[in-house]
Amino acid sequence: MDAPLQRTIIEPFRIKSVEPLRFTTRGQREAALAAAGHNLFALRSQDVLIDLLTDSGTGAMSAEQWAAMMRGDESYAGSSSFERFEGVVHELTGLRHVIPTHQGRAAERILFTEAVGAGDVVPSNSHFDTTRANIEYQGAEALDLLCAEGRDMESEAPFKGDMDVEALEAAFERHGRERIPLVMVTITNNSGGGQPVSLANLRATRAVCDRHGIPLILDACRFAENAWFVVEREEGHADRSPREVAEEAFRLADGCTISLKKDGFGNIGGVLALNDGELARRCRNLLILTEGFPTYGGLAGRDLEALAQGLLEVTDPDYLRYRVRTAEYLAERAWSAGVPTVRPAGGHAVYLDAKAMLPHIPAHQYPAHALACELYLEGGVRGVEIGTLMFGRPTDTGEDDPAANELVRLALPRRVYTQSHVDYVGEVIAAVAARKEQIRGYRIVDQPPALRHFTAVLEPLAG
Ligand code: F0G
Repeated sequence: MDAPLQRTIIEPFRIKSVEPLRFTTRGQREAALAAAGHNLFALRSQDVLIDLLTDSGTGAMSAEQWAAMMRGDESYAGSSSFERFEGVVHELTGLRHVIPTHQGRAAERILFTEAVGAGDVVPSNSHFDTTRANIEYQGAEALDLLCAEGRDMESEAPFKGDMDVEALEAAFERHGRERIPLVMVTITNNSGGGQPVSLANLRATRAVCDRHGIPLILDACRFAENAWFVVEREEGHADRSPREVAEEAFRLADGCTISLKKDGFGNIGGVLALNDGELARRCRNLLILTEGFPTYGGLAGRDLEALAQGLLEVTDPDYLRYRVRTAEYLAERAWSAGVPTVRPAGGHAVYLDAKAMLPHIPAHQYPAHALACELYLEGGVRGVEIGTLMFGRPTDTGEDDPAANELVRLALPRRVYTQSHVDYVGEVIAAVAARKEQIRGYRIVDQPPALRHFTAVLEPLAG
């Protein structure tokens, strides 16, 4: 089908149900931020105008999803909603055993509890935070082996999420296959800027796994966005549908964990799918212990219905074209305001580079946090800091060990904001950029021992 003429980005849906936004004054936002201890996680959502904190669980459901929810079968065991969910996941992934979970990290915890032991090493292109934390919780090492282009923020390479396959082979040589119970690939690579993984790279990774007889597991939260990038960018796939590409990607793996709060179009939900029957049996037993019976896994029947329908809708080419184009458009708006971003734009988010934008703010004064706060104060836009506040460590000198990058992630909820909302966010970025020399850093007043970014209390430094 012809792509619609897209000088203006047209949302491929119209709106049936609306949720009011609450406008605030600059004074109200200053008061709200101060009351939140200058931590954006502590804001009330009612005080946020455009919430780009995450694309996870924040999407809008379709009319068909809401209709499907009415068909939810809430039987404890053997519900027809599970059958529908299982059928859709099986068709999409080709994987034999489908285990529902309440969200992605539950699937991860169950898989790693059964498959990973102390002293093991689990390579990936890049582990997401919860994946890494769940592996480390088992006493194992989570190893990131991202390709060189992926580590260069300015590289325009098309597949910056690719695994460094040579490094993977070297990891097998160094640690031995006995210590590597599985290999993971995250599509798209959230930690690396939402960058895609090519099918060629997945195949090469699969070949290494085959040589060593080790299973390949996808962390496939954003499988549809990844498939769209393959259609757009990888040679030989331009005439394929994103559905076909996604099906092929899953068939290169032995299993997957998916947070269905992303490309499942769900507000809650996850899944663990596996080919290994014995491993699946053990995972189901653990599921019963902590999540629920294997035909609901901590979800309501109506959730399973909504997710099954969402998984059918998300590979629609018109939706994916609009989705990816919107992120790219927002990045273009940032660039034209002189704000550098991770390039190219990711599938689900734009990552502003605060280190390049605010060179006068040192890492231990949290430049990306300062930028995120300014976006909120300027226009009620909430993003998330991915920098020294999130990853830095306090030291004896009082100056934190800096993180590698100082980024603000602006994640786009699915089907929620319109093109004019995105234009507005572009205007807010430009207004902040116009007075960037005046932006000051922050200092931490109080912080917990771990995962401090969620609850730390901060204070702006005097100008
Ligand atoms: N894997 C990836 C790549 C993710 O991005 C996430 C969540 C998870 C696993 C965990 O899934 O939240 O359902 O338990 N990412 C969210 C985010 C939280 O904001 O990027 P979950």
